[in-house]
Amino acid sequence: MAEAQSIDMKGRTCLVTGASGGIGKECAVALATMGATVVGVGRDPQRSEQALNEIRLRSGNGAVEMLRGDFAQLADVRRIAAEFRDRHARLHVLVNNAGTVYGRHELTLQGVEKTFAVNHLGYFLLTRELLPLLQASAPARVVSVASMANYRGSLDVADLAHRKGWNVGTAYARSKLCNVLFTKELARRIDGTGVTANCLHPGVVATDIWGRSFLSRVYGWIVRFKMITPAQGADTMTWLASDPSVAHVSGEYFDTRTVRKPNKVAEDRGLALALWEASERLVAAPAESSGAGPG
Ligand SMILES: NC(=O)c1ccc[n+]([C@@H]2O[C@H](COP(=O)([O-])OP(=O)(O)OC[C@H]3O[C@@H](n4cnc5c(N)ncnc54)[C@H](OP(=O)(O)O)[C@@H]3O)[C@@H](O)[C@H]2O)c1
Repeated sequence: MAEAQSIDMKGRTCLVTGASGGIGKECAVALATMGATVVGVGRDPQRSEQALNEIRLRSGNGAVEMLRGDFAQLADVRRIAAEFRDRHARLHVLVNNAGTVYGRHELTLQGVEKTFAVNHLGYFLLTRELLPLLQASAPARVVSVASMANYRGSLDVADLAHRKGWNVGTAYARSKLCNVLFTKELARRIDGTGVTANCLHPGVVATDIWGRSFLSRVYGWIVRFKMITPAQGADTMTWLASDPSVAHVSGEYFDTRTVRKPNKVAEDRGLALALWEASERLVAAPAESSGAGPG
């Protein structure tokens, strides 16, 4: 685990998405234990309320809040960013962590596949909305939770509805490849601003994500012997969010606190740019009202 006691995060404000459970909650506990002001984001009201109480209790830090919203809805992502900006003048660490799998092929109002929407567009839009505040608060960090599933991922930017070859696994792997492509492109764009961007694989972690579809339940049962606890799974993200040794590292993919080469596709600048531009178009569209989007 990150040496929560030895790093002083007093005076730092951290936003952690997916803090109502799993590794996001453990990361929130660790950062709050280091003295940071922690704002979590959850979706489910009951889990969010329980997590808020638990994070305060376990960290002994009262400076913890929870915002709520569904990252499948771009309007919710914008509202969460606005609520954060209304309450806080500074943001030093943004941890993009909220992620999921969907058991059925579903589209959002923008016409994109839902796993891609939550796991990639959610990260993209929240970061875009909060980047000016991160830059004004520099030194600051963006930490995005990807997965080793990025190695299995492929991306066709012309098919963000994922009509070709969709299954639970291909959709998840694509979204996690997008987390790495996004981190690499973000790091290039913010180079020199005092804000870093890194991503990571947390390990194979015993969390609720394995129960969110039939296939992931089966796969989770197969890999159950490899599973680590949520607290262990939160280690690399908490370390990237707080450790002085990585204050100037940017654009990297980590596993167990070590830089790793991601999927070769993630190094394709042309693809990263195409994803960035498609994401810009999707979040810019007055989309909450229409089903129109890329085919
Ligand atoms: N567990 C693993 O083995 C593993 C491996 C590699 C990568 N990861 C990544 O780790 C991250 C966290 O996953 P976890 O394992 O901790 O899973 P988890 O226990 O299922 O937690 C997921 C968190 O994301 C939130 N979330 C899910 N869908 C959301 C949505 N549509 N809108 C807003 N929030 C949403 C959940 O909120 P509610 O509970 O309130 O709905 C919860 O707080 C994900 O990005 C996942 O891809 C996990």
